[in-house]
Amino acid sequence: MERFLITGGEKLKGEIAVNGAKNAALPIICATLMVDGESVLKDIPQLRDVYNLKDILESLGAKVTFKNNEMRVDPTKVTTFEAPYDLVRKLRASYYVLGALLPRLGQARCALPGGCQIGNRPIDLHLKGFRAMGAEVFMDHGTVEVKAKKLRGTKIYLDYPSVGATINILLAATMAEGQTVIENAAREPEIIDLANYLNFAGAHIRGVGTDVIKIEGVERLHGVEHRIIPDRIEAGTYMIAGAISGGDIFVRNVLNEHLKSLTAKLKEMGVDIVEDLEGVRVSVKQSLKGVDIKTLPHPGFPTDLQAQVMALLTQVTGPSLVIETVWENRFMHVDELIRMGADIKLDGRTALIKPTGLTGAKVTATDLRAGAALILAGLAAQGETEVGDIYHVQRGYENIENKLKGIGARIARITA
Ligand code: UD1
Repeated sequence: MERFLITGGEKLKGEIAVNGAKNAALPIICATLMVDGESVLKDIPQLRDVYNLKDILESLGAKVTFKNNEMRVDPTKVTTFEAPYDLVRKLRASYYVLGALLPRLGQARCALPGGCQIGNRPIDLHLKGFRAMGAEVFMDHGTVEVKAKKLRGTKIYLDYPSVGATINILLAATMAEGQTVIENAAREPEIIDLANYLNFAGAHIRGVGTDVIKIEGVERLHGVEHRIIPDRIEAGTYMIAGAISGGDIFVRNVLNEHLKSLTAKLKEMGVDIVEDLEGVRVSVKQSLKGVDIKTLPHPGFPTDLQAQVMALLTQVTGPSLVIETVWENRFMHVDELIRMGADIKLDGRTALIKPTGLTGAKVTATDLRAGAALILAGLAAQGETEVGDIYHVQRGYENIENKLKGIGARIARITA
């Protein structure tokens, strides 16, 4: 079992670079299943989730190579419509194969994504979209199957701007007959990146980034080269690392407009932020103040940075409130932070954080972002922090320990 061992107290200094976005890469890799010919995807992060998805595509018959952050996918020989359970259970986002295979093969089957630590994860909105386009949906023995000889464009209102449902419906609608309109669509930058890839490949998608997306179905798509956008959550995590250590760092490969809500909150705390075209400089020149934060769909404050920012809020002056509105159970890092000395009280979806010193302890990563938060807390804690179950962290951060070492963190990966 691998662990991270972190010795706190170093002020981070220097430059750290961000990889391509995991949550853009996963749907775009699935979208390659829809095109005729080879797609070349650049800046694909080397992460466990990506390797698992590569295995899924290969099991469907695609030819995939992945080297030096470049993935090439040729789906010419894809005839299998079922993603195997053993692979699907490792990766929730594998349900994007439904939206990608349905228009191509007229049928797709995939194990139902199980529950997950951060909350109940239904796919009712994805299925509502497929049904509205004329697909039949069958669910039994833990699998979901969708079938349609021909998908028809239609108007679909999402009861909640779900990222996954918007992506799955967008994929299927790209090759449906006629126009599909998705209302109350999610506006996350990763959806814009997916639509850019599809449009380069010949799709007609307009309105991404707003809550109404219009898609004119096309009959064919062709292979293209596409570079994945930088990972805003990885970038935000490193920005918070700079702040929590009281350091002065430059985070390279950042699209600052994707991180406006975090930047606004860091500035409100008193963190010094200087943005340029290459990235963002984060430094601390004064003591930081508590702030209140509520997670929301984009462009609101991202739930995927809630745990990390909470670690920072234990190290400011004055109390802070954090309200989680996206996932019902995304406070599992709280108990672990308390083991490190944090003063946090939970009431339903609200956490009240009062500042305290942190001390190193043995803690466990309960999910990807919770693990990142514990690493950040370890950077600020007195003494040694040992973070267990780091496979969660490796699902979303390429080479995190070497990147943090590069800006002066004392962190090592140990096998216990
Ligand atoms: C994606 C991200 C995840 C992030 C989340 C919210 C990926 C691979 N994952 O997850 O990191 O935390 O967006 O920004 O991109 N819901 C329904 N019915 C549905 C679908 C969702 O009720 O059919 C609910 C969920 O229970 C949850 C909320 O909608 O409460 C948000 O889910 P969604 O936006 O779909 O998140 P994911 O796409 O799963």
